[in-house]
Amino acid sequence: MKKRKNHDPRRSRGLVVTALCPGSFDPPTNGHIDVIERASHLFDEVVVAVIANPSKDSLFSVEERHRLLAGALARLGNVRIDSFDGLLVDFARSQQISAVVKGLRAVSDFEYELQMAQMNAALLEGLETMFLTAKPSWAFLSSSLVKEVARFGGAVDGLVPEEVSKALAAKYGH
Ligand code: PNS
Repeated sequence: MKKRKNHDPRRSRGLVVTALCPGSFDPPTNGHIDVIERASHLFDEVVVAVIANPSKDSLFSVEERHRLLAGALARLGNVRIDSFDGLLVDFARSQQISAVVKGLRAVSDFEYELQMAQMNAALLEGLETMFLTAKPSWAFLSSSLVKEVARFGGAVDGLVPEEVSKALAAKYGH
């Protein structure tokens, strides 16, 4: 009998569990990378989904955010980057993903995250959201603060992947 190339018996038996890590990633920070990396140890595969039409204006285009994430996550073999427009539940359905993983930095994040998790579960039955608590060293970190610091010429090395630091310097002309 001919062997099928790339046949993954776990996948064909529905045993591959995929986590969806959605976000604006404008830009990705070390906090994002840490949560994605930890999710990649817990799940068979992780799809990082960059929102293409965030409600807020973004500094980086979706292609730039995609490239920055791809560079920072290249060492993780079970992580792929994608992007989506519109509702998260529609993207999750199209990819047949039933687990969303988000990072929680503080109680203040929890209120909105809980609301989104419950809305998403109401829109798509069976869609579960799981939270990974941020490492204390990244608890204060956010994309907006990183942009503000970089805009005024502050050092963001050590807070974001190296490529992101360079991309911020190029955007702000430093
Ligand atoms: O990095 P962010 O900005 O916290 O990411 C938020 C994101 C993109 C995950 C969230 O805004 C989202 O899922 N947007 C898609 C639109 C949607 O599905 N809205 C209803 C969610 S309750």
